[in-house]
Order: sequence, then structure tokens, then C-alpha cells
Amino acid sequence: MSNLEALKKEIVETVKAAGDIQSLEEVRVTALGKKGRVTDLMKTLGTLSPDERKEMGQALNRLKDEISAEIDARASILKAAAMNARLASEKIDVTLTPRPENKGSIHPISQTIEEMITIFADMGFSVAEGPEIEDDFHNFTALNFPPEHPARQMHDTFYLPDVAGKTGDAAKRLLRTHTSTVQVHVMQTQKPPIRVIIPGRTFRSDYDMTHTPMFHQMEGLLIDKAAHMGHLKGCLIEFCKRFFEVDDLPTRFRPSFFPFTEPSAEMDIGCSREKGELKIGAGSSWLEILGCGMVHPNVLKNCGIDPDEYQGFAFGMGIERVAMLKYGIPDLRTFFESDLRWLKHYGFGPLEQPNKALG
Ligand code: DAH
Repeated sequence: MSNLEALKKEIVETVKAAGDIQSLEEVRVTALGKKGRVTDLMKTLGTLSPDERKEMGQALNRLKDEISAEIDARASILKAAAMNARLASEKIDVTLTPRPENKGSIHPISQTIEEMITIFADMGFSVAEGPEIEDDFHNFTALNFPPEHPARQMHDTFYLPDVAGKTGDAAKRLLRTHTSTVQVHVMQTQKPPIRVIIPGRTFRSDYDMTHTPMFHQMEGLLIDKAAHMGHLKGCLIEFCKRFFEVDDLPTRFRPSFFPFTEPSAEMDIGCSREKGELKIGAGSSWLEILGCGMVHPNVLKNCGIDPDEYQGFAFGMGIERVAMLKYGIPDLRTFFESDLRWLKHYGFGPLEQPNKALG
């Protein structure tokens, strides 16, 4: 091997061994710098004969080029490695955390209340609320239940311990058995005209497929100078058509009895039962849906409203009952068991609008 080749081999090895750009630069200076080994050889060219000088000059230039090329190649490898190391050390995760799966759902009771409020709000009703713990006056007496009347027993009332220091009706506290109690609060505090709906919890000591100790009712009350039974019917027929989304829904009103209304009625809607499937709409069967009537003059009087000047109508319906009918839920007790599979199946998404008539 010629001296030049040996030199080249030696330098190329040091180039390849350079672990970073700085040591590569040192290698370049040692080989090609002003006092570098190849540069030193160039300086000896003057001592050679013209022929030798030419040959050696060309060989040295080639050597210089070859070493430069080796250095450049090594430099780009080292630069790429340095860049990769930097990218790895400065890595940041710019992706968004994935949205968690939507696990919650709107309970059918909440959804149904929203739908009912939307329909009645369109008719000018506003929402009123009242306490769940009541006294005998608001639950019974003001609503024209005579003392010792069997209807009081029919309500399967949950009574709380008597209030200390009081006796008789004044001492009695109970869980309201219906939302009609709030009619009394509203009439005691608001001047007619009154147009309210009252969604809320009610309590009765009863438990089977269609009864739970806690359930919900939607009460309605309208008081003005001229409201009559025709207004009551028109309002409730319109509500049922929109709620059940059936335009030609058959309806009928049957005479009934409630102490707080006179006359009183129960409203039925048409349905069919074919092959065990219940369908709301024209058919050969009827479903009872709510109680209603013209507010009894005694109730108006008990609440401080002059029955010679004002009259009105009221209605009350079970929210679970209409939800079960609309959404095909067979057993009332399942509403309150908090079974996640049930909630997933019957629950509603936060942005879901199941009733197109409301959109
Ligand atoms: N309060 C009654 C019940 O719980 C429902 C009801 C019927 C309410 C007729 C009313 C009404 O306002 O007029 O069964």
C-alpha cells in the first residue's frame, strides 16, 4: 500500500470513529486544516521535480476530495442522528385526549317532564312547585276532603310523627299524596288569572307493577273569570295529541268523582291491543290517562278566591303512567331500581329530542 493510501485509510478510520460533529471537525482540521497532515504534504510539493509534482499534486487533490466526501457523509449521518435524538427528547403529545364514552343518560321521567312542560308552556302555562312534606290542610282539607271522608284513607298516606306542641290537624305532617296540594299554595299566593302546571314527587304506601311508594304527577290549574269545561277539554285533547304524537287520537271524558272538582271527569285516549302489542291511536280500546274537572267553589273559597267572580279547571296525571305508555315501559317499579342496563336502554341522550312535535 502506498503512503498516501495508508494515510487515507488512517484518516477515514478517524472520520468514521467521530461520534459527534465537534470531534468530526477536529478530525477535519487535523487532516485538511492549515496545519493538517494533507496540507503539510501539499507544502512539500515544491521540493519535487515537475513531473513528480504534477503526479503527487493530482494524487493529493484526489485524497483531499475523497477525505472531504467522507467527512461530509459522516457529517450528515451525525446531523441526522443529532436531530433524531433532539426530536425524541423534545417530543410532546399534541393529540387531544379522546372524549370519554357518554355513560350517563336522561332518565325517562326527566325527559317526559321536559316534554310535558314544553307542550303546556306553548299554551301559556308556567311551572309552579311546592313542598313534598305537607300538612293536612293543604293535602286534604283545603281540597274539600271532608273530615273522616273515606277518600282520605284511599290515599294510603305516609304520616310523619305529630309536630310537638300542636294537636289535631295542625300537628299532622305527611308526605303529599298528590301534587294538587300546590294548587292551594298557588291560589293562596297568586292573584287570578292563574295558569300553572306542577310537576313533582308524590308518595303513597303502595307497591306492585303499577304502584310505587314514590311516583310523579303533573298537576294543572287554570283560574280566570270565564274558563269552562270546553276550555278544559280543548287544552287536554291538544296536550295528548302532541304528547303521544298522534294527530287523530280519539279521546273521551267519563264522569267521575274528586272532592276538589265539580263536575269531575276522567279522560281516556284510544288505543289498540293487537297480538299483545299496545298502540296509542284509533282502535277498539281505551286507556285512562288523567283526572280533571272544574275547580270546586269550596276549594276556591278555602284558598281565598271568590267563587262568584272566578272559576277554573284542574287536572292531574301520573308522569310514570304516560311515560310507560309512550315509551312502552312495562313495569313501574323498574323506574326506580337504578339498574344501569335499564337506564341505558330507556334513557335519553343529552341532545336527543324524541318528540318531533316539540322541535
Ligand atoms: N289528585 C288526583 C289524584 O291524585 C288527580 C287529579 C284529579 C288532580 C282531578 C286534579 C283533578 O287536579 O282535577 O288522583
